Amino acid sequence: MFSKSAKYYDEIYAAMGKDYSAEAEKARGFIQAHKKSDGNRLLDVACGTGIHANSLSRFYQVEGLDLDAKMLAVARRKYPAIRFRRGDMTDFDLKRQFDAITCLFSSIGYVKTKSRLHKAIKNMTRHLSVGGVLLVEPWFAPDQWNVGRVFTMTVDQPDLKIVRMSRSARRGNVSILEFRYLVGTSKGIEHCQEIHELGLFKHEEYLGAFQAAGLKVSHDAEGLDGRGLYIGLKPPSSSTSTVQIAR
Ligand SMILES: C[S@@+](CC[C@H](N)C(=O)[O-])C[C@H]1O[C@@H](n2cnc3c(N)ncnc32)[C@H](O)[C@@H]1O
Repeated sequence: MFSKSAKYYDEIYAAMGKDYSAEAEKARGFIQAHKKSDGNRLLDVACGTGIHANSLSRFYQVEGLDLDAKMLAVARRKYPAIRFRRGDMTDFDLKRQFDAITCLFSSIGYVKTKSRLHKAIKNMTRHLSVGGVLLVEPWFAPDQWNVGRVFTMTVDQPDLKIVRMSRSARRGNVSILEFRYLVGTSKGIEHCQEIHELGLFKHEEYLGAFQAAGLKVSHDAEGLDGRGLYIGLKPPSSSTSTVQIAR
């Protein structure tokens, strides 16, 4: 997935103006507004290079989990005090529970299918304490995805130049992003390519996955950066309902 770009991931999103620390602050606001458990253990699922995890570690006892060994290597090198584990969000088993679990920047889309969406939400819920909160930042819905769009972005640092071009495509309800990178350093210019595939799930499918896992779910249309946010609370009893939908 990120095997070619992991080492440039932070530079790319910094150049795009992604404000991880402001997002972490907003995530904390959602957690504190919904959480009913007393503890402060937090697991960032699909943590990538660990930037949200690091910001959140000012307030919580944080661990990170990701599938991609290269992303984890970057996270571990930058933040040695945080424990990062390798695992798949659909079936990891840490044998412990957390008061908050976050799955941010649309990482949930990488599960691709509705059945794996249910598996991932159920598995994260299994790792939540009673009264704990699950935050999931969604990917696009099927009616929001446009094919044939081409985008470029650049990183322009004195010793590192990157041009990333991407093109959108689609296979059924799976969005496809083809990325081409031209990376220039003093050692030379290299070209590499990655294909990312993310499932396009409807609002109702996200709600359904949270409810099927036994969570009380609400939706905030703005979320951390305009992508929206699903907030699930693990209730004390087995009662499940949608408490609030503000789209
Ligand atoms: C867009 S990046 C987001 C990373 C990080 N959350 C951030 O905000 O920068 C998506 C991340 O999801 C991870 N990922 C994809 N599929 C996964 C899975 N099944 N289980 C765990 N992590 C996964 C990727 O390795 C990648 O680090």
